[in-house]
Amino acid sequence: MLEEIPFELPELGREPDQVFSQVSNLIKTHSADIGAAWIMAHMDPPTPEIAAKVVGLNAEYNQNLLHPDLSPLATVVEKRVIDWLLPYFGMTDGHFCAGSTIANLTAIWCARKHGAKTVVASKDAHISVAKAADILGMKLDTVAVDSAGKLNRDKLTNLKEACLVLTAGTTGRGAVDDLSPSGALWTHVDAAWAAPLRLTKYSDILDGIEKADSVAISAHKWFYQPKDSALVLFKDKKALRHISYGGSYLAAPNVGVQGSRGAAAIPLMATLMAWGRSGLAQRIEKSMADAEKLADFLRTHDATELKQKPETAVVTWRPKRKEIKGVLAALADTSSQTQIDDEVWVRQVAANPFIEVDLIILKIKGYVESA
Ligand SMILES: Cc1ncc(COP(=O)(O)O)c(C=O)c1O
Repeated sequence: MLEEIPFELPELGREPDQVFSQVSNLIKTHSADIGAAWIMAHMDPPTPEIAAKVVGLNAEYNQNLLHPDLSPLATVVEKRVIDWLLPYFGMTDGHFCAGSTIANLTAIWCARKHGAKTVVASKDAHISVAKAADILGMKLDTVAVDSAGKLNRDKLTNLKEACLVLTAGTTGRGAVDDLSPSGALWTHVDAAWAAPLRLTKYSDILDGIEKADSVAISAHKWFYQPKDSALVLFKDKKALRHISYGGSYLAAPNVGVQGSRGAAAIPLMATLMAWGRSGLAQRIEKSMADAEKLADFLRTHDATELKQKPETAVVTWRPKRKEIKGVLAALADTSSQTQIDDEVWVRQVAANPFIEVDLIILKIKGYVESA
């Protein structure tokens, strides 16, 4: 496969149209089809056509958010889109970045600037939290989770010098930590996955998020954006001063971890203008219903065991009479895996709005009922 890609850097170039046609063909033939009706594996939805078209145009104009004069439109759009979203999270300012790994790093960095000495997070928090603590030279205290995968509040000790990271939608099983205040010096909510629920009828699942000091959101998950698109939001506008660097070649201070940044807010703006809040909510609510339907099937079928009721459209289960390895191999195109209490479970995430859940149920049935 892929022998047609030169093994060595070509010395001479070729006709761009020909190359484009070849590369298009490679992309279309060899990419994972994340929008297919049976794909329910990861937190990665397919890109809506409107966003894909805008991204192409954005790349042509190649604006840079680092310099207001190189992003006259993009700077205004970023502010406008952030202003649309802030009220859902009780925040007052923020910016886009390339992913929630960077959003988490930015928020924890800001917490450190405000005096936080340690990072406290559940053992199910995303690895980016441990990475951020490591990069920032902060001690990471890991707290046990309860049977539903939520940070066990009874195990929290003194948080006066801590940045507490709560997760709204854990990567492994979609659990939402108790987001109510805890007395931490700084509370950051990693809502990379579940944040967009705030714009739906399921908003109350994230109640308490508005009390946080900062929030991370992956727009390339449930806001349906192409990579690399995420947001980090802050409760207090003034907090951003601590992570702003001006001077030198800059006409305006550079805020956050990244320097040069592309105009990721423009495709999100276009998507939200094309769908409206209601169109976004309708897609996410369909996914929540898909996950619930699949979970009901897995809970009631005698050959499968549902780990727990899905809270944010992440379904975890295993076969009762078959080897987990076999099921993961047989259903590899529709599922992923996760480790819970050192055991492997099948994981299915309803991120793809084109899922036909009955088809997925048939696939699972076919496998678990076979001799
Ligand atoms: C809860 C959570 N936080 C952070 C991240 C990291 O986000 P990214 O992959 O956008 O860097 C993920 C990714 O899956 C996640 O699930």
